[in-house]
Amino acid sequence: MRIPVIAGNWKLNKTVAEALAFANELKTRLAGVTGVVPVVCPPFLAVQPVAQVLRGSAIGVGAQDCFWETSGAFTGEVSPEMIKESGATYVIIGHSERRQFFRETNATVNKKVKKALAAGLTPIVCVGETLAEREAEVTDQVVNDHITNGLVGVPAADMARTIVAYEPVWAIGTGKTATPQQAQAVHAFIRARLAALWNNAVADQVILQYGGSVNPGNVKELMAQPDIDGALVGGAALKADSFEQLVKFK
Ligand code: PGA
Repeated sequence: MRIPVIAGNWKLNKTVAEALAFANELKTRLAGVTGVVPVVCPPFLAVQPVAQVLRGSAIGVGAQDCFWETSGAFTGEVSPEMIKESGATYVIIGHSERRQFFRETNATVNKKVKKALAAGLTPIVCVGETLAEREAEVTDQVVNDHITNGLVGVPAADMARTIVAYEPVWAIGTGKTATPQQAQAVHAFIRARLAALWNNAVADQVILQYGGSVNPGNVKELMAQPDIDGALVGGAALKADSFEQLVKFK
């Protein structure tokens, strides 16, 4: 049984004060929610205060990135152990914006995923093709490459508790959502690849999120697809009303 995970990726939005006010509002609005796991991923500085506010609630907290070492001379970096200590239990890894603006590759994603898992965090690993890649009809190759190389060497038990987010780059922040059919086709492909690379039991357990212009108007139809088990949401996760509607998509 895969319990849907609806995660808000706040990106570079909300000061600590704004994040705290928002977390308190969500805590009230989502009190008693069951059958779905809401997660919020604030900017680093707000992770700990938000986790403190949400402790004991149904809402999980995640960071938006991590480094692959525990400590040392790596100016500006934050380790998975530090994130775990701050009260977060999730971490987004390999978001397309990090691949695009910060030169992340499948190799760095792989190191981060392994370190995050070792620290006891649940990685949310982002994969997905650009518009040029979709138009060139290489979506499957690109997604397969992200999965095969980004997750190589992850043991089956760890893979089973890793979340994979399919986020077509052309759908992120553009208002152009993949159709439920387009998304389902790639999700089914990802699950088949997970079965081939690990095994059927792992493929059955992995939560596959869709991301890219998810909003309260399209979430239900996306979530109705057999291989879509959640959503990773940017813009529509920044307002309490709309995030509440997303979490209560049923
Ligand atoms: P969006 O962002 O919902 O604003 O398209 C999704 C994401 O980047 O995770």
